[in-house]
Amino acid sequence: MIKVSNISHFYGVEQVLYDLSFEIKSGEFLFLSGESGSGKSTLLSILSTLLKPSKGELLIDGESVDEISNIDYFRQSKIGFVFQFHYLINYLSVYENIALAALEDKKQNITKVLGELGIAELSSRYPNEISGGQRQRVAVARALINEPKIIFADEPTGSLDSKNSTIVYGLLQNAAKKGTTVVVASHDMQIENYATQIIRLKDGQIL
Ligand SMILES: Nc1ncnc2c1ncn2[C@@H]1O[C@H](COP(=O)(O)OP(=O)(O)OP(=O)(O)O)[C@@H](O)[C@H]1O
Ligand SMILES: [Mg+2]
Repeated sequence: MIKVSNISHFYGVEQVLYDLSFEIKSGEFLFLSGESGSGKSTLLSILSTLLKPSKGELLIDGESVDEISNIDYFRQSKIGFVFQFHYLINYLSVYENIALAALEDKKQNITKVLGELGIAELSSRYPNEISGGQRQRVAVARALINEPKIIFADEPTGSLDSKNSTIVYGLLQNAAKKGTTVVVASHDMQIENYATQIIRLKDGQIL
């Protein structure tokens, strides 16, 4: 469902990804591993359509990303994002943060999704009134709310202890078991226990 063909990327004259080709099937939990600077975030940005690669082609569901006419709608309806520093809006409650991202016909599911993530009782609190682990669960809820076909997460547990990391990985694994494709870039080797496919990057190349 995601097909990467001969993707290379340059920042200015510096080449950071070298001729990468691979496929990710539906329902796969892909762990993108590699040392700092190996190109994980760059590749994740390309896979999630946020960054256009210098060379090569990305197909999602058989469609070339270059040819998608309404890319905003494509992202909103098909893709969920979880970032390391969750980017919740401090002036909106937990519920409102998710409602902001939700498609109109998905708003009715917010309470259910919060319940599944064990944070239903935090619905009316503000991000600065909950713990870091709870905030990260809100970020996962926000990524799940539109039932995306693909979830991309860049260091989703970078600011969490191992207990909360385990909770977040479990949630992502559940999504994958239900057919969502999950792609996680991280330093945390613990993800190996959840992943169904592992890609190791070194200096922009697949090992
Ligand atoms: N916007 C940018 N402009 C120029 N160079 C960049 C930019 N973003 C990243 N780089 C460089 O590209 C290379 C790959 O960076 P990237 O962020 O993809 O690595 P990473 O594997 O995610 O690292 P980390 O584990 O530290 O997050 C690094 O050498 C980095 O300095
Ligand atoms: Mg990174």
